[in-house]
Amino acid sequence: CGIVGYLGHREAAPILLEGLRRLEYRGYDSAGISVMDDAATLTTVRRAGKLAELENAIADSMPSGRVGIAHTRWATHGPPTEANAHPHTSRDGDITLIHNGIIENAAVIKKRLVELGYPFRSDTDTEVVVHLIDHLWPEGGALEDAVAAALAQVEGAYGIVAMSSRDPFKLVASRNGSPLLLGIGADGELMAGSDVAAVVGVTRDVVYLDDGDVAVLDRTAYRTFHLERGSVRRKVHQVTWDLAAIEKSGYEHFMLKEIHEQPQSLRDVMRGRLLPEEGMSRLGGITLSDADLAKVERITITACGTSWHAGLLGEYLLEELARIPVDVQYASEFRYKNPVIEDNTLVLAISQSGETADTLAALREAKRRGALTMGIVNVVGSTIARETDFGMHLHAGPEIGVASTKAFTSQIVALVLFSLYMGRRRDMSVLEGREMVEALQRLPDQVEEILQQTDDLRTLAEEFADARNFLYLGRGYQFPVALEGALKLKEVSYIHAEGYPAAEMKHGPIALIDEEMPVVFLAPRDPVYAKVVSNIEEVKARSGRVIAVVSDDAPELQGKVDHLIRVPQTVPALLPVLTTIPLQLLAYHAAILRGCDVDQPRNLAKSVTVE
Ligand code: G6P
Repeated sequence: CGIVGYLGHREAAPILLEGLRRLEYRGYDSAGISVMDDAATLTTVRRAGKLAELENAIADSMPSGRVGIAHTRWATHGPPTEANAHPHTSRDGDITLIHNGIIENAAVIKKRLVELGYPFRSDTDTEVVVHLIDHLWPEGGALEDAVAAALAQVEGAYGIVAMSSRDPFKLVASRNGSPLLLGIGADGELMAGSDVAAVVGVTRDVVYLDDGDVAVLDRTAYRTFHLERGSVRRKVHQVTWDLAAIEKSGYEHFMLKEIHEQPQSLRDVMRGRLLPEEGMSRLGGITLSDADLAKVERITITACGTSWHAGLLGEYLLEELARIPVDVQYASEFRYKNPVIEDNTLVLAISQSGETADTLAALREAKRRGALTMGIVNVVGSTIARETDFGMHLHAGPEIGVASTKAFTSQIVALVLFSLYMGRRRDMSVLEGREMVEALQRLPDQVEEILQQTDDLRTLAEEFADARNFLYLGRGYQFPVALEGALKLKEVSYIHAEGYPAAEMKHGPIALIDEEMPVVFLAPRDPVYAKVVSNIEEVKARSGRVIAVVSDDAPELQGKVDHLIRVPQTVPALLPVLTTIPLQLLAYHAAILRGCDVDQPRNLAKSVTVE
């Protein structure tokens, strides 16, 4: 979900809506806004559906006032109806609140409040908090006291912002487990937001709140205190992302824009990190001494979604190039099993947003068990970036399209750089290292070349846009690419797609193959190429329709497969970056042809800050 709050000298509603527009990728099944006018009267408007519904509802009569809060929701408790949309309001309409996260003891608190006569008008866990604040408001007390009293009884994850006409012209924000930050503008303008995108329209100066922090924003200043430790001061950070980077700059969709940004995002992830002579990488964010690095005996990678696919590739890369045993775990599984973390295990969390709740929980569990932790994260200042011992930023710029594209290829390159870093300290030769660095340097231009094929891929998508199923197959480094290709297609086009190790196909999925079934083979020239060619034969023998992604002329496949997609040749470890690009474009065009909303696919959210 997305949170935005504003307090200042300008009309709040347009600023809040602008913030919501930038946040809409975080969830978009309902939206709402509350504004307090200069007489301290609250007006709340909420709508089910996308933000446009809310915008239409208030277009002719914007609620007036210079302080307000707004929210875009991704449903957890209760369907995406207007009644369940935020802000939620107290019985007398004098407190209004927005919330991200999940209140775990909501049912227990609700029972008590119902007995006390509080009317519940939604299915959400959030409504519990607003009534609790109302109930616990101390005589003559301030909003922040009431919020703190309520939060002391609440278990679970939250980022909240509250406002009340009982203590007007003030916003109280707090977080525990869900992202929340403040924007500190000029002329007394203050904002609260669940991420930087919410506030950049007003200011670049942000204060990241920590778990347990409460921030009080009023017309004179802001202050922060910790629920248990009292007054705290948090540093003001400067955000460097520029506004153009979160706008579409002429592209029809963010997804397409971000696919096309990959030559640049790949240059950015490598910038200053390549040492061609030494065949090495220089990673300033890895603050561990060489002696401590040498002690790492095992790496556990944990992540979700596309980042998990990058993690799986990390296993192949780190084992091959650095000879370190690696296992890769879904963060949502890791956090509830009993993971074995030995003394010399490094736990590596990979996350574009740095806020995914499951990944964060897995990271915290690893820390509790004494593991050394590393992050590969895109969003600077995000919770995972801050809570890991050290790490690497992707510097890919904001990724707005819900389906991850440029972050994925940057994650792969980050993992290659890290593998080089570890490998060259172990048994990788300087010549091997140099070959890798040279190949890395060529990569952005090679991606550029593939992007020229977007028209061909559209034509291909036309042929297959009506398919009901797709199979994606690859081996070795191309197996995670197959998984990611299938995920991309199903996320944005709603065509069911499965990724599989190519040879494993004969143990099950082969039963699905008939003349209807499109099968995408990742078959670039690498050490398992000949094996993959045999797997292609197996599919053709059963009349499957084969699309093969190859890295040269692939004479063995000429005339044998239905379609060939060519990418340039490079070392096997980097081929996944190249073979991923056409799969992104194929998914994009298939989705457009099917009339899908590629930037905001149904039911998904960019950053899932609930469990
Ligand atoms: C959501 C997004 C995916 C993303 C995953 C992990 O499900 O829709 O695109 O891969 O979260 O997100 P993270 O920010 O941790 O990489």
